[in-house]
Amino acid sequence: MANLQVEICGVKFKNPVIAASGTFGFGREYNLLYDISVLGGVSTKGTTIEPRPGNPVPRIAEGSSVILNSVGLQNPGVEHFIKEDLPFLKSKGVVIIANVAGKTLEDYGNICARLNGIADMIELNISCPNVHAGGMALGIKPQNIYEVTKLAKANLTKTPLIVKLSPNVESIPSNARAAEEGGADCISLINTFTGMVIDIERRKPILANNTGGVSGAGIKPIALRMVYEAAHAVKIPVIGMGGITCAEDAIEFMMAGARAVQVGTANFTNGNSMPEIISGMDRWLNNHGIKDVNQIVDVLTLN
Ligand code: FUM
Repeated sequence: MANLQVEICGVKFKNPVIAASGTFGFGREYNLLYDISVLGGVSTKGTTIEPRPGNPVPRIAEGSSVILNSVGLQNPGVEHFIKEDLPFLKSKGVVIIANVAGKTLEDYGNICARLNGIADMIELNISCPNVHAGGMALGIKPQNIYEVTKLAKANLTKTPLIVKLSPNVESIPSNARAAEEGGADCISLINTFTGMVIDIERRKPILANNTGGVSGAGIKPIALRMVYEAAHAVKIPVIGMGGITCAEDAIEFMMAGARAVQVGTANFTNGNSMPEIISGMDRWLNNHGIKDVNQIVDVLTLN
């Protein structure tokens, strides 16, 4: 067996495969399919200070090789998360990344303060395209990214901070650098692209919110390019995601510079995709005589 362990910001992951926020709830349902303790980590559903009911339905639609979601950050609120969900995830021995969101700058500061020292890492969600306040609105311009990151970091004395970037922006390198300058310990990307699907009989968008976030296999080449750009714009570690469905996809992201990967939409098409990706990475490394997964990080030579 190859070594699959990775360390990011002093946090040890048993392997580099992490469940992406919003595709895995808090892990309980997938634990009925397989023991989720095999995973490197879980990034939780975006959690806010108050419980949120989310957007009206329909809020999921399909496209070719992609899905669109407009969930609207439905979640039970941070106190429920701490009392009911965190103990379950802790019992599984996975790295717990609390994905957090808010309507205002102050919300982001408050939720970081509440989870400081409680979650293993915080992932600042400034990239959700489906809410009218906060979310992606804070993640487009470098100055906003810098300010929200700085505030979050000021409230996180014990817990490393990941900033999750939106792809719906002018410049990934500028936004990655803004997060780094604001004090982020790590960057994750990409969140979803804003998109639309239309019911041509009704002449209306399928999603009740009209637009939604596009994810899935179809976005992988764009995500990979953005992960490469971010990883070469900053010194802090990068976690890559966007359309990963198999071990070879995960290896591509690591070769582009990601130190770990998140798997999202693939969990919907194949509930066992993450355990399969982990064993497939091990197999690939063994077949290529590579003893340690860290040896494939950032090894790309451009043409
Ligand atoms: O609508 C949602 O809950 C999506 C969240 C996200 O993309 O971060």
